[in-house]
Amino acid sequence: MKDFRVTPIRNGTVIDHINCGRALKVLRIIGITESVRSTVSILLHVPSKKDGWKDVIKIEDRELDSREVDKISLIAPRATINIIRDFNVAQKTQVKMPEIVKGIVRCGNPNCITNMNEPVETEFVVEAKKPLVLRCLYCDRIQEDVADRLI
Ligand SMILES: Nc1ncnc2c1ncn2[C@@H]1O[C@H](COP(=O)(O)OP(=O)(O)OP(=O)(O)O)[C@@H](O)[C@H]1O
Ligand SMILES: [Mg+2]
Ligand SMILES: [Zn+2]
Repeated sequence: MKDFRVTPIRNGTVIDHINCGRALKVLRIIGITESVRSTVSILLHVPSKKDGWKDVIKIEDRELDSREVDKISLIAPRATINIIRDFNVAQKTQVKMPEIVKGIVRCGNPNCITNMNEPVETEFVVEAKKPLVLRCLYCDRIQEDVADRLI
């Protein structure tokens, strides 16, 4: 634990190495709102040896599910998820962008079958990672502004 900008937490999750400027979008993904019940520290624009600048989020008494981690991988592909137990990093995982992005992004084409009232989960193939470009497997529409289209 090298940085002491916030009080260490006993148990919870640290989302580290978030691309600078993306922390607020990550908060939205993990459902942190004004009615939050966990203590959350948000560090914006932190100097980092690895990344130049990064954002960090520390959440007490909360772990993330795989769907949340997949969404984070789309907007912060270098993020690490650190599970803190008894003040120590008990587990560190690097987020991994899925090859096929299923059920977490809405297609931008209003005529796409996934936007009709059909029980069809959206599905995109990752065409490029940096910057992120997705292609809808149903209508071929290219999706670039993914952060605003998360389900
Ligand atoms: N008890 C704690 N409370 C709050 N934050 C913590 C705690 N323990 C570790 N962290 C934070 O979790 C992140 C990962 O901790 P770790 O000790 O693995 O750092 P590191 O060696 O710099 O890891 P990395 O190589 O992933 O940057 C860091 O941002 C660190 O500040
Ligand atoms: Mg570090
Ligand atoms: Zn589509």
